[in-house]
Amino acid sequence: MTMNRYWRLDSRPRGEDFASALSLQEVPLADPAPGQILIRNRMLSMDAGTRMWMTDRTDGYQPPLDLGTPMQGLVLGQVVSSRASGFAEGDWVRAFGTWSDYSCVDPLLSGAMKLDPSVADMRDHLGTLGMNGWTALWGIERTCAVKAGENVLVSAAAGSTGLLACQIARILGANVYGIAGGERKCRLLESDYGLIAAFDYKSGSVAAGLSRIEGGIHAYFDNVGGEILDDVLANMALYGRVAICGLIAEYTGGRQHGPENFDQILMKRLRIEGFFSPDFMDQGEQLTARLRSWVDAGTLSLPYDVTTGLENTLEAYAKLFTGANIGKVLVELQS
Ligand SMILES: NC(=O)c1ccc[n+]([C@@H]2O[C@H](COP(=O)([O-])OP(=O)(O)OC[C@H]3O[C@@H](n4cnc5c(N)ncnc54)[C@H](OP(=O)(O)O)[C@@H]3O)[C@@H](O)[C@H]2O)c1
Repeated sequence: MTMNRYWRLDSRPRGEDFASALSLQEVPLADPAPGQILIRNRMLSMDAGTRMWMTDRTDGYQPPLDLGTPMQGLVLGQVVSSRASGFAEGDWVRAFGTWSDYSCVDPLLSGAMKLDPSVADMRDHLGTLGMNGWTALWGIERTCAVKAGENVLVSAAAGSTGLLACQIARILGANVYGIAGGERKCRLLESDYGLIAAFDYKSGSVAAGLSRIEGGIHAYFDNVGGEILDDVLANMALYGRVAICGLIAEYTGGRQHGPENFDQILMKRLRIEGFFSPDFMDQGEQLTARLRSWVDAGTLSLPYDVTTGLENTLEAYAKLFTGANIGKVLVELQS
């Protein structure tokens, strides 16, 4: 009998203590029901936004996961059995599945997408060409409406979404600045990714650094929220745009209060807008095609921080919240 190991959410985690809240379980592998596909997971995508699903917040963009159920997240793998039209055994797919050896999903409900196996590095389907790539492109081009010559600032700039947002802003001709945790990340952003300057929020240098950006910040791609947003609001240019991509500084705690510098929205006539990738899933093909043209041209890339083995998933996941990662965090599953 084939067994399926999966991570079960047993309780709501406190802070980054995931080991006390999730446990690895094993059950016999079930056959897919009519309309479902069974995916052999090859990679699990570690995404910061999934931290909110572990809380009991009911006013988020997705209802909380029920306790006692498998942890959900984006997976990449191969179909081993299909009872859904349009999917056949052997197809490579990306879907919202479970942190497990196998994911059994309804393609429509899970957003399952067939993947092009000719992409040289299949990890790109979770990174540059995946949800992080789509989010970065949409946020920079549509929500921030970045124009060549503008000053663009990105927070969590050395993470997966942030690093892609920085590069896309640069491709569009912007002057790119970043905020990241630690000297090493900041210098890497400047030396390898062409940022004009990156500011280390852990050393408290953000406010002073931002105040030196000549002409102010025209567009801010925010992955973090919290106190950093206050520093940014104080240094926005007139008619600047703020794209709220994520609020990672606020995912583990309770509800947060808004920015103290809220008045700057009026003083600078700012536009602040949240955006969420499932809202533009239907435009995935066009977004992927544009991203791929940059990947193929060598102008867009992402380092992958890979952990091997389903049993090590929680260590990989924690990196997103301790800042141990540069680029995309993935778990590769042994076959
Ligand atoms: N709107 C959407 O549709 C959408 C889609 C994808 C992702 N997102 C958002 O994008 C953000 C990044 O997600 P990701 O999955 O790509 O993860 P990631 O950026 O690869 O990793 C998270 C990074 O956030 C930084 N961080 C962690 N805690 C922080 C804190 N308290 N204050 C400041 N920085 C902190 C860490 O880097 P440092 O070393 O710099 O601290 C860490 O490397 C998240 O907010 C996520 O929710 C939104």
